[in-house]
Amino acid sequence: MIDNTFASPALQQPLQMGVTVVVHSATKYLCGHGDAMGGAIVGPKDYIAELNHEVLRDFGGIISPFNAWLILRGIRTLHLRMPAHCSNAQRIAEFLARHPKVERVNYPGLPTHPGHELAKKQMKAFGAMISFEVKGGYEGGKKVMDRVKIFARAASLGDTRSLIVHSASTSHRAVPREQRLAIGITDGLVRLSVGVEAAEDLIQDLEQALAF
Ligand SMILES: Cc1ncc(COP(=O)(O)O)c(C=O)c1O
Repeated sequence: MIDNTFASPALQQPLQMGVTVVVHSATKYLCGHGDAMGGAIVGPKDYIAELNHEVLRDFGGIISPFNAWLILRGIRTLHLRMPAHCSNAQRIAEFLARHPKVERVNYPGLPTHPGHELAKKQMKAFGAMISFEVKGGYEGGKKVMDRVKIFARAASLGDTRSLIVHSASTSHRAVPREQRLAIGITDGLVRLSVGVEAAEDLIQDLEQALAF
């Protein structure tokens, strides 16, 4: 079973690679505009039938008609949005990798990423989720998040708008530091969900945010 949310079916189709079940948060790239919540489980007919008969009966799984409509509308432009997300992310990752205030950039589109060759083989492009470590630890990472003007401070992802979170002070604030470090979420780690705005504007925004 694989969660294909970050890639979306436009970049990677795990069923064709031998995965049995694929799950998606449709709230993210499938919807694409950060305005509806939903999900999808894709797999063999008998497995889905079992879910329908047992799991959905107990937990409920009926998306609201309006959310379903928004997500279906979003899917129509998925193949147009994803290349724009990916080319912006590549430019931003390369910009960050050159920046003196940035210690490390995690993005599979960079040849330095341990998963670069594998991603190149199995994905159409490298996606638009980036994380990077800002020099200056907790305060440094928090400053970048607080100083951006175009990126929205939000923990979701896959929106046409660019989003930013400093994990240690937001999404992972409640996780004890040792535990957080053990899963790679360092004090200065900032996560970006790169949107489809003009790349120059996003780079300029990060440049001014990093100038502290
Ligand atoms: C990779 C991934 N999968 C699944 C989910 C769950 O999504 P939802 O809140 O739409 O159920 C998220 C949410 O952040 C996610 O990032």
